[in-house]
Amino acid sequence: MTLPSQLLLSLFPGIDLLGRGFEAEGFSVVRGPDLIYGSDIRDFHVPPGRFDGVIGGSPCPDFSKARRTAPTGNGLEMLDEFQRVVLEARPTWWLLENVAQVPDLVIDGYSHQRIDINASECGLPQNRLRHFQFGHRDGHVISVSRQPRIVDVEPCCTASEGSDQNRRDYRRFCQLQGLPGALDLPAFTLSARYRAVGNGVPVPMARLLASAILHSVPADSVRLCSCGCGRPVYGRASFAEPSCRKRVQRRRERLDVIDQV
Ligand SMILES: C[S@@+](CC[C@H](N)C(=O)[O-])C[C@H]1O[C@@H](n2cnc3c(N)ncnc32)[C@H](O)[C@@H]1O
Ligand SMILES: [Zn+2]
Repeated sequence: MTLPSQLLLSLFPGIDLLGRGFEAEGFSVVRGPDLIYGSDIRDFHVPPGRFDGVIGGSPCPDFSKARRTAPTGNGLEMLDEFQRVVLEARPTWWLLENVAQVPDLVIDGYSHQRIDINASECGLPQNRLRHFQFGHRDGHVISVSRQPRIVDVEPCCTASEGSDQNRRDYRRFCQLQGLPGALDLPAFTLSARYRAVGNGVPVPMARLLASAILHSVPADSVRLCSCGCGRPVYGRASFAEPSCRKRVQRRRERLDVIDQV
């Protein structure tokens, strides 16, 4: 038996599809509190130096494009909680998952890299864009091995699909999230099952990130895109794709606006 290479703390785990992907790549995962099991991150503390990494997908409804009302402030509060636990745990690295509109989380003492990835680049026929933010104590960077994008994709699996009359079959829903079949969650109602699975990080996406972290390298040893997306660049190029240049431009414009306030 091969012993796990690193010990991780998984925050906001839910049913932890994210952590399952890391386990599949050989990490050992300890799960933190979650409201669905009656425990709140706000009451949770960790001793320093015990975990190699901290991972988590904080709640995203406040940052979701589908949101029709003003954000509640809970999304930002939970990002602060993620940061607080990272600072308490002092891991070598951390990884945060959320939707594209989540703000940058820069944590004191850690580098910062932001990586966008679609489930359709992880071998899944689902249009699900997620942003990962990665920080490393020694400034290491990660490069994700995306697969050729699947063009013929189904809509994103959402947490609310269970209450939709036209919902996809539960087994299909699980498969689109990278599970082998219908995930057995005996203590959950059917709509709670859809919610938990729809909230998760597709397992193959989690595995790609886990593998990238196992192969993280010092920033000066590779040439990666200047936008931070983790794609390699060749020759004299600074950006991997036209969208990378636009992303940096948008960030600069946002910073100009902040400067002028
Ligand atoms: C996006 S889901 C996480 C999904 C998980 N990463 C996965 O891949 O399966 C966010 C989770 O945060 C939990 N949560 C929200 N507020 C919380 C709080 N105050 N304390 C602990 N967990 C909380 C929710 O119950 C939900 O399970
Ligand atoms: Zn890029």
